[in-house]
Amino acid sequence: MALPQSLLAEFEELVKKYPEKRAGLIPALHRCQEELDGWISPETMEDLAEYFDLEPVEVFGVASFYPMFKLRPVGAHVIGICHNISCDLRGAEEIIDQVCEITGAQVGATSDDGRFTVQRLECQGACANAPMFDLDGVYHEDLDRDKVTSIIGGLS
Ligand code: FES
Repeated sequence: MALPQSLLAEFEELVKKYPEKRAGLIPALHRCQEELDGWISPETMEDLAEYFDLEPVEVFGVASFYPMFKLRPVGAHVIGICHNISCDLRGAEEIIDQVCEITGAQVGATSDDGRFTVQRLECQGACANAPMFDLDGVYHEDLDRDKVTSIIGGLS
């Protein structure tokens, strides 16, 4: 078990909130991703499986189902751009092209300088304000070229 003691201590408190220990898996995945370099490694999944009395494949099944969990190393900033129907009809493909051009990252990959990971997302439920992207967990909506330039240009 390589999980830090601080996380294990958090999990001890976390699981008290649920009728079954395994119900704490999703919040534990979030905390691991936050604390362990922004992604969930195979070793982390094995440790979580051990802690939650699950098989590693069960942890993988949950972690791989939700796009907010990163199963590979990511850049300092992660930009997930919705490409489903509402966003597509309102210019998502142009937004994707622009984001790739500004960041130097290809879709599904990280820029050479390690600053940005760009990915496509399925509908995020923000269709009324399409097009949108999720930047480091924060939604940006009603995007246009100027907004995209301003938002990404303002990142450190
Ligand atoms: S289609 Fe993009 S948020 Fe729903």
